[in-house]
Amino acid sequence: MSEPDGRLVCTDVKLRFGGIVALDGVHMTVEPREVVGIIGPNGSGKTSLINVLSGYYRPTSGSVVFDGRRIDRHRPQELRRRGIARVFQNLRLYNGLTVLENMELGLVQDMSSALGVVRATCGSIVGRRQTKLRGTARERASALLSENGFGALAAIRVGSLSYGQRKELELLRAIIEPPRLLLLDEPTSGVAHSDADVIKERLLAWQAQFGFAVVIVEHRLGWLFDVAHRVVALSSGTLLAEGSPEEVAADPVVRSAYVGS
Ligand SMILES: Nc1ncnc2c1ncn2[C@@H]1O[C@H](COP(=O)(O)OP(=O)(O)O)[C@@H](O)[C@H]1O
Ligand SMILES: [Mg+2]
Repeated sequence: MSEPDGRLVCTDVKLRFGGIVALDGVHMTVEPREVVGIIGPNGSGKTSLINVLSGYYRPTSGSVVFDGRRIDRHRPQELRRRGIARVFQNLRLYNGLTVLENMELGLVQDMSSALGVVRATCGSIVGRRQTKLRGTARERASALLSENGFGALAAIRVGSLSYGQRKELELLRAIIEPPRLLLLDEPTSGVAHSDADVIKERLLAWQAQFGFAVVIVEHRLGWLFDVAHRVVALSSGTLLAEGSPEEVAADPVVRSAYVGS
């Protein structure tokens, strides 16, 4: 254990699935408020790294330290309490519930037990014991929705939103309780170019407002290079290159790894 410093430090992180080596000795540091982009070809370990940082996978060896404490044995729920929020590549919204209900669920899920999550998924939104929580959650959710152009949509079912709006809503849900570190896996996958630009502007505004650090996996390199302070390139589970967006974009090793893609 070291001094609390708000940093995320991965040291020699390895992750194996049988004979498959998903991460092969990753060293990476993310400073408070820093925005770090992760790039790499398919199968290079980007999602695995996000899964390790968010507690969904346990590294086979190596360590992950956040704010001075080892976190690589913690579950996602515990990490959310410590300030690490994660957004999945595929949407995890409830289409039959309204925009506001989905927002509330984001917070309730983050704070409740696995049983609460199951109950929530089954449709009975929150149990009696969570009523109090729901009050504050509702206030914060409503404020965030109206600040971000969703005010008029609060009572609309999520199923009738556009795909871009749903991706945006999922990001909003992750920051309802502002994290210290936000982990995003392909936040613009499947969205139109114009929607990707909206998501970029919103993300930059929230990052400035709340001051969290961000780790983003993203295939749209131009988009990512606009947002990231630093870029890490992975290949076969190891760091191929690291530096400013300009440095990584100009790196001959990175360029050759991207030839033909
Ligand atoms: N749960 C898992 N079980 C087995 N293999 C996995 C699992 N998760 C990831 N992998 C493997 O780890 C490697 C890296 O995958 P992934 O992290 O998803 O790459 P990326 O996100 O860069 O496309 C791949 O070979 C993938 O098949
Ligand atoms: Mg992936």
